[in-house]
Amino acid sequence: PSARRAPAGGLIKVESDSTSYVDGGIKARFTDRGADVVKTADGKLTVKKTEKNFEFFTKSTVGRVGLMLVGIGGNNGTTVVATNLANKHGISWHTKNGEQQPNYIGSLVRASTVSLGVDPETGKQVHVPISDMLPMVHPNDFVIGGWDISGVALDKAMARGKVLDYDLQRQLVPYMEGMKPLPSIYYPDFIAANQADRADNLIPGDDKLAHLEQIRKDIRDFKEANQLDNVVVLWTANTERYADIIPGVNDTAENLLNAIKNSHEEVSPSTIFAVATILEGYPFINGSPQNTFVPGCIELAEQHKAFIGGDDFKSGQTKVKSVLAEFLVNAGIKPLSISSYNHLGNNDGKNLSSARQFRSKEISKSSVVDDMVAANPVLFKTAADLSAETGEVVKKGEHPDHIVVIKHVPAVGDSKRAIDEYYSELLMGGRNVMNIFNECEDSLLATPLIFDLAILADLLTRVTYREVPKEGEAPEFQPLYSVLSLLSYMLKAPLVKPGTDVVNSLNRQRNGLDQFLKACLGLEHSADLLLDTRVW
Ligand code: NAI
Repeated sequence: PSARRAPAGGLIKVESDSTSYVDGGIKARFTDRGADVVKTADGKLTVKKTEKNFEFFTKSTVGRVGLMLVGIGGNNGTTVVATNLANKHGISWHTKNGEQQPNYIGSLVRASTVSLGVDPETGKQVHVPISDMLPMVHPNDFVIGGWDISGVALDKAMARGKVLDYDLQRQLVPYMEGMKPLPSIYYPDFIAANQADRADNLIPGDDKLAHLEQIRKDIRDFKEANQLDNVVVLWTANTERYADIIPGVNDTAENLLNAIKNSHEEVSPSTIFAVATILEGYPFINGSPQNTFVPGCIELAEQHKAFIGGDDFKSGQTKVKSVLAEFLVNAGIKPLSISSYNHLGNNDGKNLSSARQFRSKEISKSSVVDDMVAANPVLFKTAADLSAETGEVVKKGEHPDHIVVIKHVPAVGDSKRAIDEYYSELLMGGRNVMNIFNECEDSLLATPLIFDLAILADLLTRVTYREVPKEGEAPEFQPLYSVLSLLSYMLKAPLVKPGTDVVNSLNRQRNGLDQFLKACLGLEHSADLLLDTRVW
């Protein structure tokens, strides 16, 4: 699907008092209906309906959008570039199964649909691709560039990755042989020692402020050279170790900027990239698991009203887990343990064979069932229940055992194997064991997510909101909040507004995004209630 061109956001016209098509964009009124739930002293719950009225404005001119990848010479980076070029130039290739056309399968935006409503004549749901809902950049139109500590030209880097068929690679060489990654920042302590022999394309010196300035200049130069309206910067470089959170160093925006000035050792390359992008005012997405967004970095984004999103692409095992764990818990079945094993043979796997980098991945993969478990106190005793039982203060509620193992097996290359066992309690003491063997073509799953993240991040920079103005008032439209939790569907350990709940459930993440896109069109209805088929 979807190399097909639809007019950007021009397919749908909402006819309603709450939606108007004004100069330069779509203005939509939306009522956010919720409920405040208060527990009374006698243990009952009082529910009060709430309503907040907003207006959204979505700028409809998409413009030229740049996508700058940190780690462009890696398996994901080169697969993104190759996919963009093959689609843009209509390059098909031969495989043992016949001729293959380029496409964007696996992209939520380009290859999945949403129900807009019902055709009154047939009574059937009408589905449209997500990309047709609002004006969004087409992935063929991204101007792609970026950095890598390995200076190998992208045709050779693509061959090194062993992801794509030879007949496609062969045809892409003329496009990619002239593409060389920009020199990058390498602080050896942050990625595995086994990556050192790749690091031959570096910004010189140890001065972190100079590094920051160079990255900022690279972004500005890229924007100017390509006459871009917006630039999305995305980290798809190696997984780093966690940075220690040190008061006075990276806990506030001011301290973090000072720590960069002083070249403090706990400032990671990914945080330098994030800070550079924030200071330039563009969105930055972190596709790896490390804590790039230290508290000072989040605060800096808030201060600059710049957008950030992360962490860690949710491509294979975790995506399945966020569906299966929810299915079990929502079915009233109690998972007792989830045991996950992975082996993979690409350079990501090599980097993750080092303990501190594996730890970042382990943390990111571990929290994925937390919200589903916390949402069901019938199955899982809460910390308060456990405290009442034992008489001691228990801080964490009951939780299934959950382990994650990752091993580097070079022979399987980019074709990661993910093996998961779900062991659950059934009715009357019964037990259920479910085993999943998931062969994740890693970079082919991650690449469409990278396009989705960049497309949605660009869109969200064009959406602004305000409270519905009172008589005689005309408040300015404001940008959305800095942390783009609407990108959670594509991310394993979603970054959310500090102090708010993380949603890991894939269905809830998807519904949240669908509802938001509809809200920008002024649509509030549910596609699932279907009252006309149930009530009359
Ligand atoms: P890769 O190892 O093939 O590519 C990473 C690239 O980053 C390499 O070319 C390396 O030279 C470069 N690099 C390392 N440090 C850098 C720096 N400071 N500046 C610029 N470039 C730097 O790995 P792959 O498979 O492309 O994955 C990339 C990242 O995405 C990894 O962190 C991985 O954990 C993460 N990820 C990948 C998923 C997938 O399904 N492919 C899923 C979830 C996360």
